[in-house]
Amino acid sequence: MAEASQDKPDLTNGVPENDLGDGAMLVGQVGGEAVLLARRGREIFAIGATCTHYGGPLGEGLFVEDTMHCPWHHACFSLRTGEALAAPALNATSCWRIERRDGRIFVRDKMPEVGRQMPATLRPTDGLSGRMVIIGGGGAGNAAAEMLRRGGYAGGVTIISDDAVAPYDRPNLSKDYLAGTAPEEWIPLRPPEFYANNGIELRLSTTATGIDIAGRRVMFGGEELGFDKLLIATGAEPIRLDVPGADLPLHFAIARSRSTSSRPRRGLRSACSGRSSAISCGNSTRAAASCSISARRRCLGRCRLRRGRHRRAAAHSPRATGRIGDRSRCVGRRIS
Ligand SMILES: Cc1cc2nc3c(=O)[nH]c(=O)nc-3n(C[C@H](O)[C@H](O)[C@H](O)COP(=O)(O)OP(=O)(O)OC[C@H]3O[C@@H](n4cnc5c(N)ncnc54)[C@H](O)[C@@H]3O)c2cc1C
Ligand code: FES
Repeated sequence: MAEASQDKPDLTNGVPENDLGDGAMLVGQVGGEAVLLARRGREIFAIGATCTHYGGPLGEGLFVEDTMHCPWHHACFSLRTGEALAAPALNATSCWRIERRDGRIFVRDKMPEVGRQMPATLRPTDGLSGRMVIIGGGGAGNAAAEMLRRGGYAGGVTIISDDAVAPYDRPNLSKDYLAGTAPEEWIPLRPPEFYANNGIELRLSTTATGIDIAGRRVMFGGEELGFDKLLIATGAEPIRLDVPGADLPLHFAIARSRSTSSRPRRGLRSACSGRSSAISCGNSTRAAASCSISARRRCLGRCRLRRGRHRRAAAHSPRATGRIGDRSRCVGRRIS
């Protein structure tokens, strides 16, 4: 989580303007809340220094024009308003008013979140209209629906998802959730009432089986739904291990959805109580996911990571390589 703020300078006492050069950042605190000061040319910004995704330290992030990118999973925040401009953060961070006086910069009060919240009621004349259909209720589909509303889209928004539950934090399924240390309430991206309050229709346990582009219809079961705009955000399915015994229920499991993640959770516990090794396979981001599964397994008991397709994934993806390296060190084996 983000650093403790008490030992940081109190920004209400002011800092010398000369200490904050062009492109520089400084993390301080206001009333115990970590606040990031950043300067671009003559402009000075102050926003909450803690990422609203999983608490990453924004002061260690990447400062690009008037935005700040979280160093952990690269969420992007506006320095002007605190708005979460890019995934995976969904909520804005705080935004503070500053005052420049006698060569010093003072952070004053927190700005109201006006203009950064979704409208309480939809105003059909404000934005575009028509029905937007999104196939896929993962992080991408959810973010698209939210951004449409935040941007003032006043037409119908429908998410069709073959999942039985509302959009949730899938990456956590191989981490704290798998280890049993994340409570259930951490997993949904939004509370159930969020969708109704924002005019986002969720059609769960519904598999889109066909699209009629010319007729602008999505088919599911015997039903169909017309659309003006369509977004396909169906993600990808993991490649299953093609070896004898791959269908054994407790030995091979994929933590992909909330319903299937309980199976590896049980499997890991059972494996940890008996056997001492696991093969975890994956590709690209899934290699990182499978490494994190191994790391969770170590938390639960003994774990030995066997190298498989991780090496290939590492060669193809520098971003994955770093994460795989971290995870591998975590489980005590280095992948070179
Ligand atoms: C266990 C696990 C751990 C991960 N950990 C990390 C991590 O640490 N870091 C990282 O960067 N990434 C991680 N990932 C990858 C990350 O979760 C994905 O990149 C991300 O979920 C992709 O989001 P998405 O919305 O595009 O697709 P998905 O999350 O796959 O969502 C697509 C949705 O569409 C639904 N769908 C598919 N076809 C249809 C259809 N025909 N009709 C209706 N619905 C349909 C699917 O059921 C699913 O709910 C992990 C993935 C897994 C499985
Ligand atoms: S903690 Fe900042 S993007 Fe995840």
